[in-house]
Amino acid sequence: MRVVNSDISATAVRPDQFPTDGLPEFVFVGRSNVGKSSLINAMASRKALARTSGSPGKTRTINFFKISVMQGEPGAEPGNAKAPPTDLYFVDLPGYGYAKVSRSESQKWGAMIEGYLKKRPQIKYIIMLLDIRHEPSAKDMELFEWLKHYNYNVIVIATKSDKLKRSQIPKHVAQLRRALGVNVLPFSSETLAGRDELWALMSAEISS
Ligand code: GTP
Ligand code: MG
Repeated sequence: MRVVNSDISATAVRPDQFPTDGLPEFVFVGRSNVGKSSLINAMASRKALARTSGSPGKTRTINFFKISVMQGEPGAEPGNAKAPPTDLYFVDLPGYGYAKVSRSESQKWGAMIEGYLKKRPQIKYIIMLLDIRHEPSAKDMELFEWLKHYNYNVIVIATKSDKLKRSQIPKHVAQLRRALGVNVLPFSSETLAGRDELWALMSAEISS
């Protein structure tokens, strides 16, 4: 897929602020600092569409990015296209497991995120991010089981693969695959490793 346009469409903390046009949504979830916003930028071939930060807890609202795609290579320049692009949303969620957030604030976020996930039939895929260097946490496992229970299409990504020696990547991916019982795709927002593969997986749910 080739991204021909991307922009922030909505920043929401309540359902009445969610987009109402019914476009397909691809949602990125995972613990704070795992690289959700960075991955959105990598997928959109943009440097700072979604704001990122070295300290956890950067994203605090539900952010909807409208992405227009066409068939073709992800990084390619827009050409003389005949077919119109297809629109979809990338949805960036606040991360969990951020220690500095108070219990009541973290419960409020949990309710906000659950309120979004449970009432969006247009969600096509939930892309769950795990750090390639670490075992899944109890919270990661809880979320994964919850997503499976509600029958979402889930893609699991192992982020920050550039932090490992290339020879170490398969071992870490296999560990995560064993823990979750599903395929895991290594990804790096730095080197863009995994970007084409993730677009290929998602394109099954993108009609154009
Ligand atoms: P919250 O918004 O707090 O939930 O975090 P997030 O999951 O959106 O993480 P974010 O994309 O802001 O990235 C957190 C930090 O990890 C930033 O310093 C990024 O530069 C860094 N980072 C993200 N992805 C990668 C990656 O693939 N490789 C490397 N080396 N660093 C990464
Ligand atoms: Mg973020």
